[in-house]
Amino acid sequence: MQGSDLIDLGGQVALVTGAGQNAGRATALELARHNAGGIAVNDYVAERAEAVAAEVRALGVPALAVPFDVTDLEAARAANTAITRELGAATVLVNNAGMAGPTASIRPTQNFWEEDPAHWQRYLGTNLYGVYNCSYALIPNMVEAKRGRIVTIVSDSGRVGEAKMAVYASAKAGAQGFMRSIAKELGRYNVTCNSVSLSALMPDMSEEQLAEVTASDHAKAMLSRYTIRRYGKSSDVAALVSFLCSNAAEWITGQTYPLNGGYAPSA
Ligand SMILES: NC(=O)c1ccc[n+]([C@@H]2O[C@H](COP(=O)([O-])OP(=O)(O)OC[C@H]3O[C@@H](n4cnc5c(N)ncnc54)[C@H](O)[C@@H]3O)[C@@H](O)[C@H]2O)c1
Repeated sequence: MQGSDLIDLGGQVALVTGAGQNAGRATALELARHNAGGIAVNDYVAERAEAVAAEVRALGVPALAVPFDVTDLEAARAANTAITRELGAATVLVNNAGMAGPTASIRPTQNFWEEDPAHWQRYLGTNLYGVYNCSYALIPNMVEAKRGRIVTIVSDSGRVGEAKMAVYASAKAGAQGFMRSIAKELGRYNVTCNSVSLSALMPDMSEEQLAEVTASDHAKAMLSRYTIRRYGKSSDVAALVSFLCSNAAEWITGQTYPLNGGYAPSA
């Protein structure tokens, strides 16, 4: 879309990590709808990346699936080479891959001092080193082009703290500090660097499934802390991230935007 569209990517090529489902998928598709020149779809799970790349192509935008583990710097660099060859140099990076990494699910069950230290790396690897690695691989493209956008998806656990999620929270807090710092290095090249801090998102599901989930006592207690009484949606993330990646956001940098329905943490 061009002309009257506020969210205009100006033909830039974007890499979205962890884009095989939910927030990352929605972001990849939204960027494609707003004049991206091409979308590189990363996910650890190759079939997911391929499926979303096909959805992007169906919108008439070139796409390339780049399945790799963001904790692997050499894989990120190899993906950047492939993206440059197939789509052109990527000057937009959305660091969305997160949670407990590619092969584990987040289970906030233990206090920090009781958990197995062997589990720390899964959080630090994807949520912090993954952000370093993809940024390190793509920033030279942006410096060369004298334009660019980096948006990292973080978590309110890292902004306000969350019991039984301390290592994940600290990885997300570290990613925010990293973004604020590289924003200062990259401003002179017209590259902006921001974070979007989420509270609880619901995975993509039907309205019926969502109604069932939100009817539970646990969900009601949780949602009582949200001014807008619903869980976040992938489309909420896609909208703000796309705006921050657009030309309209060229004077916004070094910030962390809470995207959370007015969430207020408990003590
Ligand atoms: N879901 C929530 O409630 C919530 C809350 C706060 C923040 N966040 C953050 O939002 C982002 C998106 O969350 P979501 O719920 O859509 O995630 P999700 O778990 O539904 O999807 C993440 C995708 O990333 C991929 N992935 C994970 N680790 C990877 C790695 N190392 N390399 C490549 N791909 C990898 C997974 O295969 C998966 O397809 C994450 O950064 C997450 O930490 C989520």
